[in-house]
Amino acid sequence: MATDNFGVAGLGVMGRNVALNIERNGFPVIAYNRSDPNAQRMREESAGKNVTVTQSFQEFVSLLDAPRRVLLMVTAGAGTDRVIDALLEYLEPGDVLIDGGNSHFPDTDRRAKRLQEAGLHFVGCGISGGEEGALWGPSIMPGGNREAYDRIAPVLERIAAKTADDGSCVTYCGRYAAGHYVKMVHNGIEYGIMQLICEVYDILRRAVGMPTPEIQAVFQRWTESQQVGGYLVDITAQCLDKADPDSGTPIVEKILDTAGQKGTGKWTAQSALDLGIPIPTLSQAVNARILSGLKSARVEASTILDAPDPSYDGDVEELTQLLHDALHLAMIACYAQGLHLIQAASKEYEFGTDLAEVSRIWKQGCIIRSKLLDPIKKVYKEQPGIKNMLVHPSFASVVNESLPALRAVVESANRSGVATTCLGATLAYLDSYRSEFLPANLLQALRDNFGAHTYRRLDRPGVFHTHWNR
Ligand code: 6PG
Repeated sequence: MATDNFGVAGLGVMGRNVALNIERNGFPVIAYNRSDPNAQRMREESAGKNVTVTQSFQEFVSLLDAPRRVLLMVTAGAGTDRVIDALLEYLEPGDVLIDGGNSHFPDTDRRAKRLQEAGLHFVGCGISGGEEGALWGPSIMPGGNREAYDRIAPVLERIAAKTADDGSCVTYCGRYAAGHYVKMVHNGIEYGIMQLICEVYDILRRAVGMPTPEIQAVFQRWTESQQVGGYLVDITAQCLDKADPDSGTPIVEKILDTAGQKGTGKWTAQSALDLGIPIPTLSQAVNARILSGLKSARVEASTILDAPDPSYDGDVEELTQLLHDALHLAMIACYAQGLHLIQAASKEYEFGTDLAEVSRIWKQGCIIRSKLLDPIKKVYKEQPGIKNMLVHPSFASVVNESLPALRAVVESANRSGVATTCLGATLAYLDSYRSEFLPANLLQALRDNFGAHTYRRLDRPGVFHTHWNR
């Protein structure tokens, strides 16, 4: 019996690469794009392969074996709705539509309900790994209807990245919009780790005054580290190594210091506020990008507001080791915050997400893959309901050993006036989370003073109000 074919709609570079990956793994592909250039590039890249390219929705749907499986690879937003509208004219009950874009999870819920009314299944599916990952093996985070997932799982398992010891990097992330929620938080963690790396670079560059090639050598060494090693450190070493073809100097020194963003990090922070889960490292990474965008205001302020002398006069080797240990701890804190958020969302929205499985599928293929994910998976496997992985013995020991390093790094950077937006937020998070007492006693007194909001006491039960000014 011939293998049923698979549809891919949207042939930008991610769509084309996923289509080629699906075909390479033995499934005939029907590929759709309205525009000539993308359709043409797909034809060129798939010459001689089992890929049929069409620019008509009607033909696209008619060429697919029923019940159909269609993967949408379009830029998240209104474009996704437009393609769904067009496809709805032709698709039939029982067909499965998979949204592989970075869609906002409430949109996924809305779309799933709409398609359900038409008898169609909708799978919101995070796909991570960039262009290379899409072609050679991404980490795939699908959610929604379980039956629909089971119908597409054989294809997803074949095209996903493979771990050496732990299977294919795809799992059913849970009901409703769980797939896009997990991918959103993946990106929130991505924002956090990237900003932490940038702050380490900034401390070496501006506080220590280290030249870029030496900073590159530090990150190059760290690519082998069992603690911080992973994709983002690998590509940091790569970025710092690249020379500008015009000047021959490191290209990173020529790049405008203003970062863009497409929304997933901001949505992670917004959702955490909605659910009441503290993720300060991830949220501050969004703020750091926003601050980076205020370039002209910063240029002006730099001529008005004084900066301390930025030079670090201590032992550089020692500081480099402290930075390594601080980055290790802060990366752990990023994963801990993100997984805490997914745990809360899973409860609130009834996703039924398995955090051990999420950590497992992040071990390869995705942007946040690192050597830390295997121990993280083991913690959630052993204690699925653990409130925060930081209190598990395997991570509590790292917190206890490396908190002084993080503190020392933040102190040095602060003395030099180098902003530690995420390193500092992580330190404050850990100092708060490990504290039996916080100053919220005074906060409650203040609230009660001006607004009669009442307070509870440590020494007896009940709710109290004080007349503060009498
Ligand atoms: C991935 C990436 C990818 C992209 C995001 C974030 O997992 O492959 O997360 O999806 O990097 O869109 O992009 P921004 O930094 O532009 O928000």
